[in-house]
Amino acid sequence: LEMESEHMERTFLMVKPDGVQRGLIGRIISRFEDKGFTLVACKVVQVTENQAKIHYAEHDGKDFFLNLVNFITSGPVVAMVWEGDDIIALSRVVNGKTNVNEAQPGSIRGDFAAHTPKNLIHGSDSPESSKREIANFFEDHELVKYDKTISSWI
Ligand code: PPS
Repeated sequence: LEMESEHMERTFLMVKPDGVQRGLIGRIISRFEDKGFTLVACKVVQVTENQAKIHYAEHDGKDFFLNLVNFITSGPVVAMVWEGDDIIALSRVVNGKTNVNEAQPGSIRGDFAAHTPKNLIHGSDSPESSKREIANFFEDHELVKYDKTISSWI
């Protein structure tokens, strides 16, 4: 893929089981489309225990690790890869703070989440996690390369 700028990145975003259960998939996806990001892969999956442990490997050993694995495997999720300029940091702003008491209105968590840690959406926190998380859910050939812009006259 021709990267349009040196800040072009991919990130792994996942609507968690609470978002699917509450019927928020469309509205959550709209937030990222509204921001101008490009959806390059998307599927509904039941996360396996093994996949959950890989996904949250950096939290292995923390007191909430088992809760985390139980929550993310408790129902289907929507696993996605999105692309955009500085998307790893920017999408976390769209998501809002982990703790719903601190999540700003206008963010997904600020607008829709009321009970930590049922915070609806996961986003990678670094280029390294993004790579690992994408590889845990998608094969390379599942990432579709395309350009949403028709022209670039400005
Ligand atoms: S840390 O220790 O600061 O890195 O943790 P934090 O970034 O706050 O949270 C990391 C992810 O763990 C989730 N979390 C929990 N899940 C279930 N139960 C409990 N008690 C719990 N505490 C934190 C939190 O929502 C983060 O999930 P992701 O999917 O990464 O946003």
